[in-house]
Amino acid sequence: MSQFHEQQDLPSHLAIIMDGNGRWATNRGVPRQEGHRQGVETLRQSLKDVMRAGIKCLTVFSFSSENWNRPKAEVTFLMTLLQRFIESDLAELHGQNVRVRVLGRRQDLPPKITKLIEHAESLTADNTALQLQVAFNYGAREEIADAASRLARRAVAGTLDPASITPEVFDAELLTAGLPDPDLIIRTSGEYRVSNFLLWQSAYAEFFFTETLWPDFTVDDLDQALHAYAQRDRRFGGLSNQQERER
Ligand code: IPE
Ligand code: IPE
Ligand code: MG
Repeated sequence: MSQFHEQQDLPSHLAIIMDGNGRWATNRGVPRQEGHRQGVETLRQSLKDVMRAGIKCLTVFSFSSENWNRPKAEVTFLMTLLQRFIESDLAELHGQNVRVRVLGRRQDLPPKITKLIEHAESLTADNTALQLQVAFNYGAREEIADAASRLARRAVAGTLDPASITPEVFDAELLTAGLPDPDLIIRTSGEYRVSNFLLWQSAYAEFFFTETLWPDFTVDDLDQALHAYAQRDRRFGGLSNQQERER
């Protein structure tokens, strides 16, 4: 297998916008639900591939704040899928030393799912092989507004000086507090947009877009993305090593 060249520069944090389940199903003349079901299978396999590649932190986008705009039956199905995923895979994830966290607004989710999420998070809290974040009912603007609201409340209560709010202080209020920023964001299905995902955290992320629909995503797609990432010249506003040498 040619995958995962040992010395290549790996992202500390990989994020994936898993898009294209509906089109995958439509292309096969089956209900959209089938695409979502297959999408979960792909996620299972990708988790293994990501760990094998040596990546320690992975965030996957599985339900956005805006996905409530879909037909009720599809929304209900997606809730059930998350529930089933936690129920059937938690023990194995825990056995593989994976720390699971769910990012998003909890208060809008059915109480049964909230309980499951809390159980999954506390069970795996000390695991260290992979930090897995599932963004579910997640929207970056909501995340940022909620962080601002909490800081404002502390300022009004007199426990926070507004002048002390730096990017670092703000960052610590986000759902991703304590995690490195995503170095690489993959979006599948040939859509070239961010769709309200990790807006703050992606300030210097590299993006990789592929036409592959999420249910068709394989280790080869992952390998391509990681290879492309390793070739990128990340300057963070400064100069590259090459440019420094030419000065
Ligand atoms: C991604 O697939 C999964 C979710 C957004 C829940 P889609 O359901 O968006 O699939 P397309 O984009 O309609 O093909
Ligand atoms: C983004 O996909 C959200 C997820 C993959 C969960 P969408 O399919 O919802 O995004 P848009 O509507 O095409 O921008
Ligand atoms: Mg989509």
